[in-house]
Parts: sequence; C-alpha cells; structure tokens
Amino acid sequence: MADRSKQLIIAIDGPAGSGKSTVSKMVAKKLDLLYLDTGAMYRALTLKAMQAKLDLENEKQLIDMVKDTKIQIETRPRAKSIKVFLDGKDVTHKIRTPKLTDNIKYIAKVPGVRKCMVKMQRQIAAKKGAVLEGRDTTTVVFPDANYKFYLDANIAERSKRRFKDLSAICVDISIEDVKEDVRVRDESDKTRKVAPLKKAEDAICIDTTNMSIDEVVDRILSEVKS
Ligand code: DC
Repeated sequence: MADRSKQLIIAIDGPAGSGKSTVSKMVAKKLDLLYLDTGAMYRALTLKAMQAKLDLENEKQLIDMVKDTKIQIETRPRAKSIKVFLDGKDVTHKIRTPKLTDNIKYIAKVPGVRKCMVKMQRQIAAKKGAVLEGRDTTTVVFPDANYKFYLDANIAERSKRRFKDLSAICVDISIEDVKEDVRVRDESDKTRKVAPLKKAEDAICIDTTNMSIDEVVDRILSEVKS
C-alpha cells in the first residue's frame, strides 16, 4: 500500500482557544504525521527579540534576527506536549507568558519575518507530511493542503479553555483578564494587513463550542478518511 503520509498535509486554522493545538496534536498522532505548532514559532521569535531587548517596532532588526534564528519543535510521541527549542535552548514554558503573548503582534505583522517563517514551515512539513496549525496555514503556508479546517468557538468558551491552559502552567491571571487578552488578540489577528486570520473559502468550518476534543478529532478524521 502506498505510504500516503509522505505527502499528506492537513492545515488547521482558527482563533486563540478554538481547540486547534490539542486537536491538531491528536490528529497528527493518529495519522502518524508531524505536528507543527506555527504559533509556537512566532512565540519563540518574540522571546528572542525580548531577550535581546530589540526595538519591537524596528522591522529591519526583527528580520535580521529571524535570519539568524533556529527553531526546533520536538513532539514527544507518548506525551501530549511538545518541546520548543530556540537556538538549541529549551524555551517551552518561557514562550507562554501573558507579557510575551502581548508582544507577538509586533513580530507577526512584519512581512519579512512571515516570509522566513513560511519558508521554514513548508520545509519542515514537506519532509514527512504534517498537521500544521496556526492563523495562516490554510491561506498562505499551504493553500493547496490536502485538507483544510477552520476551528472556531464562542469567546466565553475560548477564554475558559485558555484560562485552564494557563492555570495548568501556573500563570497567575484572572478569567476576566484572559477574556480581554483573547478579545484583543482576535482583533489583532483578524485585522493585520499581512496574512490575517480568516477562513479559507474551501476550508471545512467546525464550531467546537459544544464539542468535546474527541468529537472534533473524530470529525476531522472522518473527513480525512472519506
Ligand atoms: O496559536 P498561538 O496562540 O500560540 O499563537 C500566538 C500568536 O502568534 C497569535 O496571536 C498570532 C501569531 N500567529 C501568526 O501570526 N501566524 C501563525 N501561523 C500562528 C500564530
């Protein structure tokens, strides 16, 4: 039987808290594909810029930095988590703080930065086939992916999920602040000029508000297998 996984690209986009990460990881595991969290890559870049105390408004500095940056994402087969390495150092937890999350928008809006990231993402995914999740994986990175999904959920549910994730890694934040962060991030992700978050016309849209993770995974797998 032909090894379909060699070429299989599944792209999953959606706003913060839509369930993309958990679902994408599980789909990748079930199909034995690589899981690529593109948001983690933008987070790692933001961390580097903050640590180097770069001027986040200076596009040239940011582009020069990206060209000299190595990001690796390691999926641990048995665990539900991934590890993120920035220039060889494990930054898995450092990239999830609210302050950093707040600063990603400066990096994510720079066309030259996105160009390098998209190139990197295509190279990583093309090796074995992958499940990629992010904001532009269905529209820019792999507009011709074999399968494209757009996950969504209402803001109350998405905030609840983010709050749970942050509490699990001991980030001290109130649910009200999380909701405000999600609202601000939706606005920034959807209105930026370059590669804004939007549903690709031919993506399958799944409203996950009242669905369990397993139900969403099964829904995606049923499309992939049919
Ligand atoms: O998925 P996440 O919350 O970890 O993503 C963090 C931010 O990174 C998100 O608010 C926008 C940016 N991002 C992006 O611009 N393009 C992507 N493909 C993935 C994330």
